[in-house]
Amino acid sequence: MVRSTDEQPHTIMSTHSTTASTSISRRFSVAPMMDYTDRYCRYFHRLLSKETLLYTEMVTTGALIHGDQYRHLHYHESEHPIALQLGGSDPKELAICAGLASDYQYDEINLNCGCPSDRVQSGKFGATLMKDASLVADCFQAMQGVSNIPVTIKHRIGIDEQDSYQFLCDFIGTVAAAGCQTFIVHARKAWLKGLSPKQNREVPPLDYDRIYQLKQDFPELEIIINGGIKTLDEAVDHLNHVDGVMMGREAYHNPYLLADVDRTIYHSDRSPPTRLQVLEQFSNFVRGELESGIKLSHMTRHILGLYQGVPGARKFRRHISENAHLPGADTDVLLQALSAMNNR
Ligand SMILES: Cc1cc2nc3c(=O)[nH]c(=O)nc-3n(C[C@H](O)[C@H](O)[C@H](O)COP(=O)(O)O)c2cc1C
Repeated sequence: MVRSTDEQPHTIMSTHSTTASTSISRRFSVAPMMDYTDRYCRYFHRLLSKETLLYTEMVTTGALIHGDQYRHLHYHESEHPIALQLGGSDPKELAICAGLASDYQYDEINLNCGCPSDRVQSGKFGATLMKDASLVADCFQAMQGVSNIPVTIKHRIGIDEQDSYQFLCDFIGTVAAAGCQTFIVHARKAWLKGLSPKQNREVPPLDYDRIYQLKQDFPELEIIINGGIKTLDEAVDHLNHVDGVMMGREAYHNPYLLADVDRTIYHSDRSPPTRLQVLEQFSNFVRGELESGIKLSHMTRHILGLYQGVPGARKFRRHISENAHLPGADTDVLLQALSAMNNR
């Protein structure tokens, strides 16, 4: 475990160099997803793939500066490589949070410029930041200035009526001029009014060609594509055009596809783990966490899709959903779910 800031006070501006290291690979990553990619989810995903870059849920600067930093930032050391996603728009506050990310030894810090939710808009961050590229550039510089961890930007291809290719290039050009080298681009625009966050992930059409074009026009930048990618074959195709692929919902709901990432995307010769091996390892982890008072259902909700596509998967899922929240539930629920699945 990484130590809490109580044990390890940070010294912003004093110890951090301003040169970003770029040693981690972003060829494949699992997207930041609020309420999904918590540390239990990431631990589980790491059992499936050693190479995939894992993102946290978005953490706002306010939550970090005024809230429980240890709760928001600590993670299991096996989760590396791991990126912290921040939500904010005040360069000074973002710099404080970037310092914290350094203390906790994250491998990347990402700024959310893609989330269209009302809550995020009222905080003047997320996708609305795309309207103000110079502010994003200032935020980037403030964060990168206090940390040698690479700072990256996640954004949309446009917002509202500002959806031309020129607008996108101006945004990226301005932020890149401040030194940012990596852009993770969700291949849809966002409508800030009128669509819910969920609709904003489904209704605006995907435009992958626009992101391929970005890589042509900014060959020196690292361009990561995101949005609607459902298979590793699709990911491999995208990698012919861009530097990396970020997958969100499909990786969450059909997590066993991650077991093939190391072989398919990173050409590793390690054999992929079986579902059973993953389940056993996750159970061992869960046992320890139960002892520290974490509820079983809080952790097991992330593994419901492990057997997706396998006969009996629905029984596995249902057994966990119906039993993991009951008082005193422990890892036996997982064993019983396996038996329920096998006794079809
Ligand atoms: C439940 C949920 C929560 C999300 N939360 C975040 C978030 O905290 N930060 C962010 O940048 N994007 C967030 N997203 C958007 C994803 O990171 C990703 O950009 C989007 O789902 C498109 O990728 P996909 O089609 O592979 O899912 C969220 C998506 C979902 C489904």
